[in-house]
Amino acid sequence: MHESAIIRRLVEFPYLPSPTSVIHAALNMVEVESNEVFADLGCGDGSVLIEAAKKFEVFCVGFEVDPALVRLAHKKVENAKLKHLIDIVRSDLFTVDLSRLDVIYVYPFPPIIPKLSEKIICECRKGTRILVHDQNLKGLQPTKSVQIFEGSIHIHSVQLYVL
Ligand SMILES: C[S@@+](CC[C@H](N)C(=O)[O-])C[C@H]1O[C@@H](n2cnc3c(N)ncnc32)[C@H](O)[C@@H]1O
Repeated sequence: MHESAIIRRLVEFPYLPSPTSVIHAALNMVEVESNEVFADLGCGDGSVLIEAAKKFEVFCVGFEVDPALVRLAHKKVENAKLKHLIDIVRSDLFTVDLSRLDVIYVYPFPPIIPKLSEKIICECRKGTRILVHDQNLKGLQPTKSVQIFEGSIHIHSVQLYVL
């Protein structure tokens, strides 16, 4: 991807890591079978994938557009000795075929919600679980929603959508 396109993407959808408490709350909302694939769309430093791989011992894949974060995620996965379970792919999440994924985590920013929602509705298979941090998808009703009190003014939330 051209550098200006990467910068445009990152303005729309910048890096902000999910707090560990939010990651744990999200992972507690789903069950994942051993043959299923867990993905993080915009995986940042890979922390969500590392926690998911430790908890479910399933194949996890992260898609990240920022090359510096891809490098950091690779390092963290290696340090956690989870290279056999986690793949980090440098790519634009809007080019990823979502139909191969069973459980999806995403921490999106408002400008991408309409396009992301449409992509999820068009491509995800029936039974796919989608965990969305702090936002609501358009055109879908969450099955479950939890709030996470972190001691700061902002109260985090995670929405679970089951297609
Ligand atoms: C809010 S952060 C979330 C990081 C991680 N998922 C977490 O919850 O800790 C959003 C991430 O998406 C990445 N990103 C932004 N646009 C993207 C795109 N079009 N494709 C892939 N990744 C993207 C950003 O670089 C950033 O790392």
